[in-house]
Amino acid sequence: METVDRTAPAAVIVAIDGPAGTGKSSTSKAVAARLGLGYLDTGAQYRAITWWMLSNGIDVRDASAVADAAGKPVIVSGTDPAAPAITVDGADAAGPIRSQEVTGAVSAVSAVPEVRTLITDLQRSIAKEAPAGIVVEGRDIGSTVLPDADLKIFLTASPEVRAARRSGELKGKDAADLAATQAALAARDAADSSRKTSPLAKAEDAVEVDTSLLNLDQVVEAVVALIEEKRAAK
Ligand code: DC
Repeated sequence: METVDRTAPAAVIVAIDGPAGTGKSSTSKAVAARLGLGYLDTGAQYRAITWWMLSNGIDVRDASAVADAAGKPVIVSGTDPAAPAITVDGADAAGPIRSQEVTGAVSAVSAVPEVRTLITDLQRSIAKEAPAGIVVEGRDIGSTVLPDADLKIFLTASPEVRAARRSGELKGKDAADLAATQAALAARDAADSSRKTSPLAKAEDAVEVDTSLLNLDQVVEAVVALIEEKRAAK
């Protein structure tokens, strides 16, 4: 007879969306580690396919060339929040996907519907296989990829705070860097929000958390409390 462990918390699927620089990755990793959940960085998958396109001489501004090649790379994502891993055709992609070249090309590649269909399918299968549940971060997770997620969070922050956080990560902190970072983030948000297929969007039933005046620990506490509430109600 099958035994059911009634003391184990029910698996929980959490979607965390929002623009760049709102603390999505740091929050998602910390929340997943705290609660023993898996973690999936969907932006890393779009970056990985972009890196493959650039490495293989595909013109990323040519949507039909990108669409034709989209099925070729094999992208594998790890789900351990302590050691997020991503490979493309077996090669470690964690470093190269953070290059400026990839960051500058990823919005164009991720706007191609064939790319989104493939990556969305991959994300759904990873989420389905996470035994304890998973925190999935991105732009369209609550609205499109996992519309039945147990909890949807939409993180926001003011443009100034987001640029300051991103500049800090990039270790360039002078005023010119800050202005350039703010402009680059605004351009990427505009592209990600205006594309036709599954744009950056807050799902209707998402809880919006403005992180402008909160530190990481405070955001993590808020999200953990929301998840525990959902789990208790399951
Ligand atoms: O989170 P990030 O900055 O690493 O994401 C890189 C890009 O990938 C982002 O500019 C848009 C795209 N993206 C997307 O279209 N859908 C997602 N779910 C996640 C990222």
